[in-house]
Amino acid sequence: MEQFVVTGGNRLEGRVQISGSKNAALPILAATLLTDEECRIEGVPDLRDVRNLLTILENLGLQSTFEDGVVTTRVSSETNSTAPYEHVRKMRASICVLGPLVAKRGVAEVSLPGGCVIGVRPIELHVKGLSDLGVDIRVEDGFVKARCQELRGHSTYLGGTFGSSVLGTANVMSAAVLARGRTIIEHAACEPEIQDLAHMLNSMGAEIQGIGSHHLVIDGVKQLGGTVHRVIPDRIEAGTFMVAGAITGGDLMIEGLVMNHMLAVSDKLKESGVIIDEIPDNAVRVRAGGIFRAVDVTTLPYPGFPTDMQAQLMALLSTASGTSVVTEKIYPDRFMHVAEYNRLGARVRKEGPSAIVEGAPDMLSGAPVMASDLRASAGLVLMGLVAKGQTHINRIYHIDRGYECIDQKLRAIGGDVQRREANVDFEF
Ligand code: EPU
Repeated sequence: MEQFVVTGGNRLEGRVQISGSKNAALPILAATLLTDEECRIEGVPDLRDVRNLLTILENLGLQSTFEDGVVTTRVSSETNSTAPYEHVRKMRASICVLGPLVAKRGVAEVSLPGGCVIGVRPIELHVKGLSDLGVDIRVEDGFVKARCQELRGHSTYLGGTFGSSVLGTANVMSAAVLARGRTIIEHAACEPEIQDLAHMLNSMGAEIQGIGSHHLVIDGVKQLGGTVHRVIPDRIEAGTFMVAGAITGGDLMIEGLVMNHMLAVSDKLKESGVIIDEIPDNAVRVRAGGIFRAVDVTTLPYPGFPTDMQAQLMALLSTASGTSVVTEKIYPDRFMHVAEYNRLGARVRKEGPSAIVEGAPDMLSGAPVMASDLRASAGLVLMGLVAKGQTHINRIYHIDRGYECIDQKLRAIGGDVQRREANVDFEF
């Protein structure tokens, strides 16, 4: 099993290019099941999650090639519409094949994704939305089994206890494009990744209006054609590098992002004292402006502060002066990183859905730690970059799910992050 050895203390300086968005690419690749024609998806990051999804899609009869960030797809067979547990368990986002499959083939069986360390992750909103479109859908034998003769456009409300659902919206929208008549999705997710999926579907001939709002109006069409589509930049990778530049007291030019997608993150970073200059043509320059200030933050659906940046911001706040309160309103249990941060000298305690961070500049020192999930691993790398001495991060397969060559990218701007084989493993 591989680990990262991060030696802290180097300032990060230079330019870094942001890759395509994982969370946009996954439902977009799944949506290529909706057409018999060829699709060319550009700007696809080479990540474990993307490779996993391509394997699942191949199993479902989709032929694809993946080279230099370009995936081409074409459906060659529609006989298998089952995504089994052995595939889905590797990646909960596999549920995004459900909507496209049932819309195009009238049948889908997808293994239940189950919970994970960041929370319970139910899918009742996906089920409700598809059921409103006339799908006979039930959870049986560990599978979501969906069947329908004809999808009928209908109004559906996709608000849940924790707000809208990103992949729930993706599934219902991807199905509604082929329904007879008009579908209205109220309380739709409006994350940039959902907007990107909607633009991709429209480029295939779908008729989706209200993109970027919580109210989507979808007029169903008989069939969709092929497309050429470029995936948006990864706003979470961009935010992670913004924190990396700041936490190391560095001076980074982060290129290829969409600044409009970054407003909640850049606002919080500025509040804590980070200097962020917007550069024309989709870049930002990030510098530390002295000792960071404590800030309070609450994760919320877009355009609020993203849960996927919570661990990374907490890393920065651990080095700030004063006490910050970090509250999770999306995944109240997404705090597995707290214990590991404390091993590195941070002073964080969890109180219900909040973490109280007593920041202290220059307190961090390296230690062996274990990554629990994708964003927690990114947070540990950030902590390691600033901790004194060496931090050994185990279970880095999590980080390879969502960050393209993060070690190489960090080394190119001065970070001392080495990947190596390690014999150690840990039990949960
Ligand atoms: N929820 C329900 N019922 C549902 C669906 C969701 O109650 O039927 C709850 C969830 O438990 C959670 C909240 O609603 O409390 C939001 O979940 P959502 O469905 O929006 O999450 P998701 O679509 O499964 C995507 C991202 C996650 C990201 C969340 C929130 C992808 C592939 N995944 O998950 O990304 O944290 O939205 O923004 O798009 C990551 O990249 O590290 C990651 C976990």
